Amino acid sequence: MSDHNDLYQAAKDAKSRAHAPYSKFRVGAALTSSSGQVFVGANVENASYPEGWCAETSAIAAMIMAGEDKITEVCVVGSSKEAITPCGGCRQRLAEFSEADTLVHIGNDAGITRTFTLGELLPEAFDKAALDA
Ligand code: THU
Repeated sequence: MSDHNDLYQAAKDAKSRAHAPYSKFRVGAALTSSSGQVFVGANVENASYPEGWCAETSAIAAMIMAGEDKITEVCVVGSSKEAITPCGGCRQRLAEFSEADTLVHIGNDAGITRTFTLGELLPEAFDKAALDA
């Protein structure tokens, strides 16, 4: 499952499983790992609002639990008419497991609307190399 239309479909399906009763803003994310597997996640909100988390974070957790740690492609689908880009915190979380040239597709219910590299979304990222510099 490496075609980005399949990745889009996986993110859109994940969005339908979001737990977003407070914002009503559903988000689905799908990640391809270096083995070619696809991991999905949705946003999971909480009555204690700050305790909720993003779709990308759920998908990363699923990937890590499967023993994978390299993201090769990402797709994020939101429930708004305009496609959303990953929030700042999720850009940092994605960067932990990606390269600057990793593709991040964003879309809405109509399909993928734009594609960025992670380096475009998070230039000059703080990463593990900085810890040793
Ligand atoms: N959200 C995501 O799941 N991913 C993002 O990158 C942006 C925001 C979620 C968090 C919250 O549940 C809802 O969208 C509204 O902010």
